Amino acid sequence: MAYKVPRLADFSPAGLETAARELLGALEAEASSVGNETEWKIFRDRWMARKSGVLTLLNDLWLKAAPQESKREVGQCVNQLKARVEVGVEAALEKVHGGAGGSQLLAERVDITLPGIRRPSGAEHPVIKTLNEIVSVFRDLGYSVEEGPVVETDYYNFEALNFPPHHPARDMQDTLFIAGQAAKAQCDRLLLRTHTSPVQIRTMEKMKPPLRIVIPGKVHRNDPPDASHSPMFHQVEGLAVDTNITFADLKGTLDHAMKSLFGSSVKTHFRPSFFPFTEPSAEMMVTCFICGGSGRRGPDPCRPCKTTGWIEILGCGMVDPNVFEFVKDNGYDPKKVSGFAFGMGADRIAILKYGVDDIQLFFNGDVRFLEQWR
Ligand code: PHE
Repeated sequence: MAYKVPRLADFSPAGLETAARELLGALEAEASSVGNETEWKIFRDRWMARKSGVLTLLNDLWLKAAPQESKREVGQCVNQLKARVEVGVEAALEKVHGGAGGSQLLAERVDITLPGIRRPSGAEHPVIKTLNEIVSVFRDLGYSVEEGPVVETDYYNFEALNFPPHHPARDMQDTLFIAGQAAKAQCDRLLLRTHTSPVQIRTMEKMKPPLRIVIPGKVHRNDPPDASHSPMFHQVEGLAVDTNITFADLKGTLDHAMKSLFGSSVKTHFRPSFFPFTEPSAEMMVTCFICGGSGRRGPDPCRPCKTTGWIEILGCGMVDPNVFEFVKDNGYDPKKVSGFAFGMGADRIAILKYGVDDIQLFFNGDVRFLEQWR
C-alpha cells in the first residue's frame, strides 16, 4: 500500500520520531522497487512534485498544522526529512543508471564557474626554427620539401653517392653502424645516415626531372660531444636538376639564400673542395655576420670567424655524372641533365645566429635555456 502523509495529532518529539521513521521506511521501500527511468520519474514526482508531492504535504500537514510551541521542532524535523528524501531520490536514479555509473557522474561533475588552468605555452626549438627558416627561403624559390629515413642503407648513404669502397668516410671512425649486419651484402647494411645526401638518390628514384628540392633532417656521426660537435646534428640539403643547370645557377641561388637568411649586406665566397658526389665541389663562406667581415669586435678579436672575417657555411657542387648513372633509368641521363647540390649544418648556423657558445645546450633539454626562444 502506497505511503500517504498522515495528519499529525501528536507533535511531541516522540510522536514526530515515529512519524518520521514511518516516512523514511516508506521512502526506502518505494526506492528499492524502482527498476527503470520511467518508474524513477513517477517515484520522484510522488515525493518531490511541487503540487501534492510528499514533501509539499509535509509542509502543509505537519509544519503548517503544528501548534505554535512545536513549530521549531517540527520545522527541523521536516527539513531533515526533505534532505533525506532528496538524497534517496538521487540514489534511486544512480541505481537505475548502474550503481557506480551514477556516482561517477557525480564525481566527474565539473564546476564551470571555476577559473581555467593556464598552461605555459611551448616554443619552437632554436634548431628546428633555424631549419624552418632555411627551408622557407628555398620554398619561396619554388623548391619542395623531401624527407628520408635516419636509419639508412650503405647503398643510399655511400654507394649511390659515388663513395669508393674504401673511402675514409665509410670508416667506423666516422659512421655509426647498426649492429648485426655482417651477414648482409655491403650495400644492404644499415647505418645512421651521416648526411642528408642519400635523400637526393631516394627522390630522384621516385621523381623525374626537372627537380628542385630541400631536405631537412637529422644526421649522426661518431664524434665525441664537445662545444662544437654532437654525434647527432641537423642538415638542410638542396638539389636542383634540369637541362642546362650551371655553376652560375648554384652561385646565384646560394648567394640569394644567404642574403635572405643573414641580411642583404652578406657576401659569399666559393673555395674549391672535394665531395665524391659533386664535381666540381666547393665550400661556401659568408662574411662573418657577427663582425661584418672585419675580423674584430671593437678592440677584441672576433671568435666565431677566428678573425678571418669569413664563416664556412656549406658544401656544394655540380652533381657528379656518376651519381646520375645510378638513377639514369628514371630520366637522369648525365648527357641530358645537369644539376647542383648543397648541404649545410643547421645547428652551426643556429649557433652563429643566436650567439650560443656550446652546441650541447641545444640537446640537453634544459628548459631555462630553451625558454629564451619563447
Ligand atoms: N653531404 C655533404 C656533407 O655532409 C655536404 C654536401 C651536400 C656537399 C651536397 C655537396 C653537395 O658534408
